[in-house]
Amino acid sequence: MLAPHDLLNPRLYDKVRRPPLEAETLPPWCYTSKEWFDLEVERLFRKSWNFIGHEGRIPNPGDYFTMDFTGIPIIVVRGRDGVVRCFANSCRHRGAQVLQGEGNCKSGIKCPYHGWVYSADGRLTGAIGMEAARNFDKADNGLISVRLEMWAHFMFIHFEQDATPLPEWLGDLPAKVTPYEPEKLVLTRRQVYELKCNWKLYVENFKDLSHTKTVHKDTLYQMEQNYTGPLERSDGANYHAAFTPHEGSRAIIGGVGGGVQGFPPVKGFTDGTIRSGSFYPTIFPTTCFGFCIDSAWFLEMYPSAPDRMQLVVGSMFYEDTVKRPDFDEIARLYYKRMDIAVPEDNGANENTQAGLRSPHSRPGRMGEPELSLNTAHNYWLDKVIGPSAQRRPHAA
Ligand code: FES
Ligand SMILES: [Fe+2]
Repeated sequence: MLAPHDLLNPRLYDKVRRPPLEAETLPPWCYTSKEWFDLEVERLFRKSWNFIGHEGRIPNPGDYFTMDFTGIPIIVVRGRDGVVRCFANSCRHRGAQVLQGEGNCKSGIKCPYHGWVYSADGRLTGAIGMEAARNFDKADNGLISVRLEMWAHFMFIHFEQDATPLPEWLGDLPAKVTPYEPEKLVLTRRQVYELKCNWKLYVENFKDLSHTKTVHKDTLYQMEQNYTGPLERSDGANYHAAFTPHEGSRAIIGGVGGGVQGFPPVKGFTDGTIRSGSFYPTIFPTTCFGFCIDSAWFLEMYPSAPDRMQLVVGSMFYEDTVKRPDFDEIARLYYKRMDIAVPEDNGANENTQAGLRSPHSRPGRMGEPELSLNTAHNYWLDKVIGPSAQRRPHAA
């Protein structure tokens, strides 16, 4: 379906605004059009707290990584004081990128163009060639800060300096995750995938319960018969979550009802103070977490074009678990689950993207297992075209 010229006309999306079991999916152009993607960048990603991973990626003073976040080059670096900061990757002299890739810059960040030097906390410490410049003060020429705040060890950035603080953005979500003790989670692995699909397809796939029976029929689906209760959903201002009650580990294949043993559950699940199960929040716009009884994982998503994104799958375990002598051996079961299920999802999402390119594709209808897609569709639409008069946000 080709994009119309009046993309922001709310009437085009009336059927997305209907109650979930009457609603249609977003029109195909929302997944394929460059114009729509540019609107998302401007109105959604530039106005949101965006998840950029676990701080365990840069554990030591001076450790850094760089990335282009929806077209904005940034540096994330741990200072000598241990604080993680984010800066525009753009020299204050004439704009060159001061760092590439990832590494350690404890001894300073030297711009490759003319050699200005910055400390790991962003201060300009050396400005060669500027000795005769008038009214030039190094103190006014540090790297430009981008807001970075943390929840547990999870890093979020926002490009607006006056943005709502992260705790307000997250609302009551951290309280709901407390039983999973996220502050004790250690990042043990990051797997990176370059995908030919729209970022929204990946979030939808995470929230869609009906594809398990087909895409994961020989893997994850085998566990589904062993749940101990119905899925429960809950809403927050900027998130939507699902809780699946079950016994055993849902982070390994065969862990629920299959007799495969993983690591011991976090304390509250063994002493019975917390109801056993897995919690799956989606923090809009893109962030998906799986908090399991014995471990956790997350998806970082980096959209770069309507049909291109980078996916990072992070695996986390508890501090005590990582210290076990048999950690590597047992962790393999968890990684195996990811290494099978994630490519299954990748293939499904790339295949959907390929189908949506057709000028004959049309918005689709959704059934009960896909109800929460409608929540996501309406959240994204609210940000891109403005809230609906027809329904209040999150009225799923
Ligand atoms: S652009 Fe960085 S030192 Fe000139
Ligand atoms: Fe899946």
